[in-house]
Amino acid sequence: MIKHLRSAADLDAATATLILDTAAEMAALAGREVKKLPTLRGRTVVNLFYEDSTRTRISFEAAAKRLSADVINFSAKGSSVSKGESLKDTALTLQAMGADAVVIRHSASGAPHRLASWVDGSVINAGDGTHEHPTQALLDAYTMRSRLGRLDGLKVAIVGDVLHSRVARSNVLLLSTLGAQVTLVGPPTLIPVDIAAALEPKTKVSYDLDSVLPDMDVVMMLRVQTERMQDSYFPSAREYSRRYGLDLARMRKLPEHAIVMHPGPMNRGMEITPEVADSSRSTIVEQVANGVSARMAVLYLLLGGKA
Ligand code: ASP
Ligand code: CP
Repeated sequence: MIKHLRSAADLDAATATLILDTAAEMAALAGREVKKLPTLRGRTVVNLFYEDSTRTRISFEAAAKRLSADVINFSAKGSSVSKGESLKDTALTLQAMGADAVVIRHSASGAPHRLASWVDGSVINAGDGTHEHPTQALLDAYTMRSRLGRLDGLKVAIVGDVLHSRVARSNVLLLSTLGAQVTLVGPPTLIPVDIAAALEPKTKVSYDLDSVLPDMDVVMMLRVQTERMQDSYFPSAREYSRRYGLDLARMRKLPEHAIVMHPGPMNRGMEITPEVADSSRSTIVEQVANGVSARMAVLYLLLGGKA
């Protein structure tokens, strides 16, 4: 088993499949009256969040607690980071407290890689800048597999602000490893020209959402990440929605069995309409629940559990 999960590229097909299979076993636990396993008793998991998060932070905390680990939640707001303390010194402080795993979210791409050279424990990337979000890709793959029964040969469209999306990057890598065929869709300004080739040569690119939908098993809508935009990448929000937003009329172009995903948080009315987000084809709430199982599997396996 790997020690760190910094990128979806750290996972080969066998390791990724083992994590998904373990997540399925963890999910079975959620239905029981007592949801706890004693597996990580005596181990310490630190959640180190330099960037805001709802789903990822809560689900890592729930995952670690369900495995009986001691959990320390650190958020940069309210910490000595405001006094200028560096990531390295913060990491060494956590190290001194005996962290067996550090889950890090940071606005700087590559922060988990740096951290791994300073601490002894496992480092898990919970989202670094515009780079990667590997546990999101795992929970997404888990959701696709449990809804559609397979990943190999699955056709997945990832739609919208690919340029700023760490979710898109990690999904392209993981889904390709597991045999799915990814098509990136969005305005040319939000899909870097060389991204498909750089990430995975089999990835396709399209600027026309309507023509792609009839052939897809999964459509994953991405949030338009205005907080990362220094320039204007499209004429207006209305124009963006008109061409790349998923509304009911567009959703009907999908095959009957196809599912609609979104990592959250959503801009309802921008990349996805409320009717689509709340429809029976949407797996958005399910993704959040699956996030706990997937993160339990990651913590369990990285910290030395057997399959
Ligand atoms: N929550 C995801 C992330 O942190 C996606 C998003 O923010 O749009 O990358
Ligand atoms: N999907 C996701 O990472 O959500 P948060 O930013 O709320 O953690």
